[in-house]
Amino acid sequence: MMQVDQFGAFLASRRSTRDYLPDPVPDGIINDIIRDGLTAPSWSNTRPFMVAVATGDVRDRLSEEFLRRWDAVKNFRGSSIRGKIGSVLRRYGFPTSNWLVVRKYHKDLLPRSQRIGKDLYSHLGIDREDRESRNKFWSRNYEFFGAPVELFVFTHKSLGKFAASDAGLFMQNLILSAHSKGLGTCAQGAVAVWEDAVKKEFDVSKNYSLLCGICVGYPSESSINGFAANRIAPSEIIPPLRRN
Ligand SMILES: Cc1cc2nc3c(=O)[nH]c(=O)nc-3n(C[C@H](O)[C@H](O)[C@H](O)COP(=O)(O)O)c2cc1C
Repeated sequence: MMQVDQFGAFLASRRSTRDYLPDPVPDGIINDIIRDGLTAPSWSNTRPFMVAVATGDVRDRLSEEFLRRWDAVKNFRGSSIRGKIGSVLRRYGFPTSNWLVVRKYHKDLLPRSQRIGKDLYSHLGIDREDRESRNKFWSRNYEFFGAPVELFVFTHKSLGKFAASDAGLFMQNLILSAHSKGLGTCAQGAVAVWEDAVKKEFDVSKNYSLLCGICVGYPSESSINGFAANRIAPSEIIPPLRRN
């Protein structure tokens, strides 16, 4: 049995990996981490999620399509009114799902999101005002940061937040299993906005919607992989008692 402190240290040693070696991950290992993911608890044991595995040509096609769409969004941001109208009419690149991803954070959460952005870009040596470099880094999401495998996690629409919670438990077990095997991962909300492109490649029923992606592969030596996101204290998520 693993010592409690060893387990804590193992959990703390996992970080999101944002640069990968091109080395392929054997199918058997992908299957193993998915099986480990399925050891998680689940709402009435329904497992209301699906996970599509993109490797090889499928992975490359999706990456190319996402990069094209991201380019369209970037061009929209920088274009004239005429260009903007043209883009709106074509709608190319606009989110086809999960608009929530591109919405502004609620003021309760905004400072935390701003902190991670500030810390990450300063680790990368990117100035806050340098939109071009920030865009370039964000676009790495659509190359899956060079990972040879991209998983797409879908949740069953009928169970709403309970399906998302089950998928989260599944994902965390999968991510930790990958970590135990020396693999890196990064969950990616960035890919959740173009569900139609993913459903064009995989036969997923309309009852399921895309939650997010997870890239999987062997971490490179890049300094980005040394980035350690801050952790809030437990007291920040434990509400005080009401004094009646
Ligand atoms: C559902 C989900 C979606 C995420 N989407 C992205 C993403 O699109 N791009 C990215 O670089 N990181 C993404 N992340 C990673 C978070 O930024 C990261 O987990 C957080 O900053 C904590 O850092 P750590 O994972 O290194 O501990 C996502 C994480 C989760 C759980």
